[in-house]
Amino acid sequence: MSVLVLGIESSCDETAAAVVRDGREILSSIVHSQASLHAAYGGVVPEIAGRSHLAQILPVVDAALEKAGTTLDEIGCIAVTTRPGLIGSLLVGLSAAKALAWPRGIPLVGVHHIEAHVYAATMERPELAYPSLALVVSGGHTALYRARTALELELLGTTRDDAAGEAFDKVSFMLGLGYPGGPAVSKLAEGGHPRALRLPKFRSSGDEPAFSFSGLKTAVLYHLRGQDARKPLPPPEEIPDRADVAASFEQSVVDALVEECLRTAKREGLSRILVAGGVACNRRLRSEMARRASEQGLEAIFPSPAYCTDNAAMIAGLGYQIFRAGRIEELALDASPR
Ligand code: KG4
Ligand code: ZN
Repeated sequence: MSVLVLGIESSCDETAAAVVRDGREILSSIVHSQASLHAAYGGVVPEIAGRSHLAQILPVVDAALEKAGTTLDEIGCIAVTTRPGLIGSLLVGLSAAKALAWPRGIPLVGVHHIEAHVYAATMERPELAYPSLALVVSGGHTALYRARTALELELLGTTRDDAAGEAFDKVSFMLGLGYPGGPAVSKLAEGGHPRALRLPKFRSSGDEPAFSFSGLKTAVLYHLRGQDARKPLPPPEEIPDRADVAASFEQSVVDALVEECLRTAKREGLSRILVAGGVACNRRLRSEMARRASEQGLEAIFPSPAYCTDNAAMIAGLGYQIFRAGRIEELALDASPR
């Protein structure tokens, strides 16, 4: 018998709800972005995020049910992100999920946000199963996993400092572009030369895969402002090589991600690379990862852009697998920032 899962996601600055049938068929996916509320601050402000989730959560759930042409009576399971994320934001989604599930006796499952990003990469291509190497690149995370199954991820390595998306957001700020920075930097980069600037390259010393983006970010800062911290950043119109800076930075991030993925896939004996998270929307990353992986006989798989950034379809999708595995939660289910 088929199962409709209602997914709820509120870990960061998107309030999202979705209805998915049997873990794969997306009947609706509603995402309310708060980006405009945080834009003036250049990043997500937790208090503002929590308040906005509170205002949006029920309308977004209603919209997801309506778009799917269904009601709570037909929902077989409610899946909600419980970790990691902003605690005040997570609690809004979790409380809503409990309140919707409990009085109706609908089974409730908790979903790990990062595992759901990885699941998104396989959701549209069920034939591509496991094991795979999974790269999660978002505003909060840059990490490599061995994905044994949808529910078993083993962490292989992570960033030593900033997440890749965070670096995009910071460079965007330096270039006078908006938040979120990834799409804006990427658009500007289209008109620039990707090898115009010589930027530092991080090499992990040990065997373990690792990333680092703070040196790259600082190199961009020094290029724009010089090394004197008392000097202000130049205004955007006074940066003559803005597009070259954007393109060179983007290329450096892409090189680092691609090279570490290929090296790790080889070392781990994995032939498939799943790439997920907001930065997986990046066009240069998508094309270079696909090309360089195939040159080595490997396959790179990306979700469609709408399912790279935060959404609830991936929560409902993985939630179905958790439901099938019998991992139903009690009311004591808690949220965690980590
Ligand atoms: O997965 P996501 O929506 O939220 C987190 O879980 O963090 O990822 C958001 C991040 C932001 O840092 C944003 O700048 C970045 O993904 N991003 C991109 C692109 N689109 C979004 N970075 C590079 N290129 C893009 N096209
Ligand atoms: Zn995310």
